[in-house]
Formats: sequence, C-alpha cells, structure tokens
Amino acid sequence: MEVVILPGEERIAAVGADIIAQHVAAKPASVLGLATGSSPLRVYGELGRRVASGELTLSGCSAFLLDEYLGLQDDHREAYRRVIEREFVERVDIDSTRVHGPDGAAADVVAACAGYEEQMCAAGGVDVQLLGIGGNGHIAFNEPGASLAGRTQARMLTEQTRRDNARFFGDDIDAVPRHCLTQGIGTIREARHLVLIAWGSAKAQAVQQLVEGPVSALWPATALQLHPHVTVLLDDAAASRLELREHYLASAEHRLAGQWY
Ligand code: F6R
Repeated sequence: MEVVILPGEERIAAVGADIIAQHVAAKPASVLGLATGSSPLRVYGELGRRVASGELTLSGCSAFLLDEYLGLQDDHREAYRRVIEREFVERVDIDSTRVHGPDGAAADVVAACAGYEEQMCAAGGVDVQLLGIGGNGHIAFNEPGASLAGRTQARMLTEQTRRDNARFFGDDIDAVPRHCLTQGIGTIREARHLVLIAWGSAKAQAVQQLVEGPVSALWPATALQLHPHVTVLLDDAAASRLELREHYLASAEHRLAGQWY
C-alpha cells in the first residue's frame, strides 16, 4: 500500500487527477471506477479543468459507479447517478451512455446486481478505482461486518453512515435511505489500481486501521491491504494517527518525483 501524505485537498486533487491521466495516457479506453461523497469531488473538478484546457480527454473511457441508494426517485438530486452526472460527467468529455451505476430502482434487485457485475466484467474490469472511506471504515457501502470477499448486493446502511450523510439531505437523517446497492469488497478488489482519498480528522481512525490495523470485518477497508496496487492519498489530519507517518512521508517524496503506477 502506497501512502502519500499531501499538504491539503488541492494537492490531493492534483495527484488524484495525475494518476487518472496516466492511466488514460497508457490506455485511452480506460475503465474508470467512480466514488461519490465529498472526498473525490475536487479530483473531478481538476479532471474537468484539464479536459476544458485540452490537456486531457476522457472521450474513450467508460465508467462504473461504486454504489447507489435504494428507495430514492431516479431523478432525486442525491441519487448517486445524478451526483456523478453533475460532478463528473458534465465537467468532462466522457460519453454519458458509457457511465454505469447499480440500478437503485430495479424491481429485481438481485438480478440487477448480478447484471451489474456482468457489465463490469464485459467491459474488461475497472482499470483505476477511486475510493473514499467512511469514518467507520466502510468502502463503497460495505459497512462493518460486511464480507471481505462479497459481490455487488443490497446492503443496509449503519446509523453512523446515515448520520454522516444527512448533510446531503438537509441535515435530516430520516431523509437518508436505509438501504443501498453496493459493489462488494470482492468486486472492488478486482479493480487493477485502487486510489483511496481521505482528508480531515474525522477519517484519522479509519485511515489508521486501513493502513496499519489488522485485516478485520470490523474495519472493512482493511481488506485493501491484500490488494497488490493501492495508493492512499491523505492530508495531514487524516494521516495524524498513523504510527509510521514519518516513514510514509519520506518514501512519498520519491514517488512524487516520478511515476504513479
Ligand atoms: C460513496 C462511497 C462511500 C464514501 C464514504 C466517504 O460512493 O462509496 O464509501 O466514499 O462514505 O464519504 P465522504 O467522501 O463524503 O466522506
């Protein structure tokens, strides 16, 4: 696991965008894995800036979302498909018909999840997957106790996640759905390069577990320790509880000077 501690969100966004740009340069038809939530928003903004200035094109790419709420109207502002359209698709030059997400309105949820896995597989799998992390260590919506090998499925959100996400729903926890569809950790671990972004002290404990804790269903993100290619981009606050912080700072200097993958 490559841990990179950076001086603030702006640098995280630049490095996150560099990583995606390098994948796309090597493979213009890259399959991108997209996360929602606030952590990757600046990366999407930076990718948009680079596309607008002609430095980058994502026109050959396709993309898959990590997760989706169940029980929101398709056109609800906080449905993840809508969030990604607003924050990513509208800013870059990707073909929106090649951006896919789990179908939160499906009548047959089990079939929708199986179909989503097949779609990802038919696309050749995800080349580079952006991830955030929940304060409780979830990745996508794999909450504590989730299988570390699970596939895309319907899951229940914890009270903590619903409380954390209430800020997107006018601070009304009752407006936050109780259920979701999410890629499983087994699905996520098949992406070839995982790029996890975390900033702010609210993530410090989860980040410490992710990087240095024992692999445990109590902190689902710890399953990423078993993936061969993970880059973790952190600000100082998110990195503040890491025991080997000095070592990560020293080794990241080498990386910052060179290639990211
Ligand atoms: C969203 C997702 C979640 C978030 C996590 C952190 O697609 O998969 O795991 O990444 O809840 O959310 P933020 O970034 O809002 O702190």
